[in-house]
Amino acid sequence: MLNKIKKSIEQSNENLTYRELPKYVGNYLDFSSNDYLGLSKNPEVIEAGIEASRMYGSGATGSRLLSGNSDLFENFEKQIAIDKKTDSALIFNSGFQANSGVLECLTDKNTLVIFDMLNHASMYHGIFASGAKLKRFQHLDYTHLNDILKDMSKDYMNIIIVSETVFGMDGDIADIQALVDLAEQYGAMLYLDEAHATGLYGKNGYGLSTNFDFNKEKTIIMGTFSKAIGVSGAYVACSTLIKDFLIQKCKSFIYSTALSPFCIGATQKAWSMLPFLGNLRRSIMQKADRLRRALNGAGNKTNIVPILFKITEEMMGKKQLLQDNGIIVSGIRPPTSPTPRLRIAINATHSYTDIEKLIEILRQ
Ligand SMILES: Cc1ncc(COP(=O)(O)O)c(C=O)c1O
Repeated sequence: MLNKIKKSIEQSNENLTYRELPKYVGNYLDFSSNDYLGLSKNPEVIEAGIEASRMYGSGATGSRLLSGNSDLFENFEKQIAIDKKTDSALIFNSGFQANSGVLECLTDKNTLVIFDMLNHASMYHGIFASGAKLKRFQHLDYTHLNDILKDMSKDYMNIIIVSETVFGMDGDIADIQALVDLAEQYGAMLYLDEAHATGLYGKNGYGLSTNFDFNKEKTIIMGTFSKAIGVSGAYVACSTLIKDFLIQKCKSFIYSTALSPFCIGATQKAWSMLPFLGNLRRSIMQKADRLRRALNGAGNKTNIVPILFKITEEMMGKKQLLQDNGIIVSGIRPPTSPTPRLRIAINATHSYTDIEKLIEILRQ
């Protein structure tokens, strides 16, 4: 066993480890953070977390099914359901736990899961755990998705289509109408991950799915509180039937201590601020557009701008050059994403001067 572990580390060229903090930590320009709206440092958000801790304690003290439940969770879940246009919502401890847990318990060996191939690892994890039949379609290729449905749907009673709405590594956007229509046409369930859409896109910033009429019984939408919301945790917005099922069956929900009162208090505050942050969202998108134009249109229409490389070492060299000039970006290597890339995320704290500095170094 230990030999196998050692060999695996030796063979890995991934060098997965914590990001090495630069010497000038605290004084660098950070384009790697997912704190898109800068809410993690918002005084009102922090104060709301502290207030909730004062009232409810520092920890939840147990699973929601035991001592961990409180009106903090229940009231917030009602609000999430309203804002997501679903009947119910359920809070999870993280996006990973939501995706892996929900997909594991919703699917089984007799389920066909049709899956955008660039979906996040947490969703793969859930499907592998259940042993469902996984069929991947080419990224954003809905003709391919249709072909798979045409070919295979007659052999399965239970089908679920799974996609992110804003893809975290490429910053491109799913055609949600096409997904809704195909799910309806073939009687499939639809599972959408709005981790990178929550806070930034859709009506009042509550995610892209809010712009569409989806089948409320057959659509499940998750999103995280760990990115634009600036805290941590996740929601699953769904029908009341699915929520009841998850409470009974979803292991990552049942067998884990609930989020702390601080998290819920801070998250609820940040969530309630989203409708008032329209100008901030527009300004982030304008800055992302400026960067994209300078890079000849790299990426898509979101605040996530990828720069792709053929060779990992080249990408890491550019990342190092940026770091030497006081700029942090994420360097993403296979298998996290099939193509090595610098992942640049524009957030609310960036000024046009910051963007110009980034462009200048990127052009070297
Ligand atoms: C698309 C997507 N879904 C889910 C997750 C997991 O969310 P969390 O970090 O809250 O566990 C991530 C995080 O990277 C993500 O990018």
